[in-house]
Amino acid sequence: MVIIGAGPSGLLLGQLLSQTGIDSIVLEARSREYVEQRVRAGVLEHQSVEILDAAGVGARMRREGLLHQGIELQFSGAAHRIDFAALTGRGVMIYGQQEVIKDLVAARLASGQALHFDAAHVAVRDVASDAPSVEFTAAGLTHRVRCDFIAGCDGFHGICRPSIPASALTCYERSYPFAWLGILAEAPPASPELVYARHQRGFALLSMRSPHTTRLYLQCAPEEPLAQWPDERIWGELQTRLSRSDGFRLNEGPIQQKSVTPMRSFVVEPMQYGRLYLAGDAAHIVPPTGAKGMNLAIADVRVLARALAQFYRTGSTEALAGYSQACLRRVWKVQRFSWWMTMLLHRLEEAGGFDERRQIAELDYISSSRAAAQSLAENYVGLPLE
Ligand code: APR
Ligand code: PHB
Repeated sequence: MVIIGAGPSGLLLGQLLSQTGIDSIVLEARSREYVEQRVRAGVLEHQSVEILDAAGVGARMRREGLLHQGIELQFSGAAHRIDFAALTGRGVMIYGQQEVIKDLVAARLASGQALHFDAAHVAVRDVASDAPSVEFTAAGLTHRVRCDFIAGCDGFHGICRPSIPASALTCYERSYPFAWLGILAEAPPASPELVYARHQRGFALLSMRSPHTTRLYLQCAPEEPLAQWPDERIWGELQTRLSRSDGFRLNEGPIQQKSVTPMRSFVVEPMQYGRLYLAGDAAHIVPPTGAKGMNLAIADVRVLARALAQFYRTGSTEALAGYSQACLRRVWKVQRFSWWMTMLLHRLEEAGGFDERRQIAELDYISSSRAAAQSLAENYVGLPLE
């Protein structure tokens, strides 16, 4: 088995396979330092936590991660708590994606299974045949590896999806006329839970990584030049958008990292072609508002690992044949939720104010109806894997 990409999907797939005795090679275009330092999302669904635990990589997450039992929705200058524990009996874990990556890389190295960083010229061959192979260059040498299957875990900009004939795939896509400017700041989070704020100047989010580190986002223009955002402007805008009538203030501190994240909804159907199986961002992208990207990647590879285990145990290709269908049903529900959270909270450049009033009415409804709050909560903590 060859796995292309050492993000959450590729590394977790490798780990789940090695637990069932299936050998694999993981190829990653970037360096180990790069993948372990790249700041990404940080919310794990209840079920993702259980999957990481069962994969044997949950120990540090259990020690250092922050269990959250709810979130705050903020609008019209006041915050309203959505109590996940009361509404669903579950919660989420705040633990950075790069920490998940570090734990998975350590487990991979301990297992002795192959992991090549800095792999160049990665190309997949003959995926429609029974004898696929993967070519790559590592440390100046070109290799060709024959394998039973290939997992395309190489993200949205990878080579696996484009290597499938376009006529065999349908892409569904929506782009949004805004992006998120994200910062990581050395400052204690001013709220014990995440705050999702709708403000007339645009969306803002308070998140965190530890009791000493705050992660903050604000809605900006797509491809916003970071040069236009000196630290004082970022803090000023965040303080305004997250302000409320009770005098709440963010704690400010040195900014360690700044980046702009584009917003996109994307799904490819099917998620497989011949002996190539796509997982995670290679197959779908969600806007970050629902905090679902990493969780979808984890769910995909759980389904794929089980299908591969069935094949190697019994010779049956039934679960492999149904991989895409098994994933897509849930993927579309998660797409719907991520789109809905996005359209609920962002400033939309429309004339006439209809959307503004529609958003406030919806937020008011969620804050006053148990049924509406429960719908948000059960999606946020994670829909079941079927
Ligand atoms: N060859 C080898 N590796 C590649 C190639 C290639 N041609 N192209 C891309 N890669 C690597 C990238 O460098 C990256 O490390 O594949 C990896 C894909 O990882 P992610 O982008 O993290 O995707 P995935 O594992 O599916 O995880 C999805 O990551 O982007 C976030 O928000 C997203 O949380 C979600 C999660
Ligand atoms: C994060 O902490 O990075 C984060 C949290 C919630 C989101 C998106 C990102 O919806």
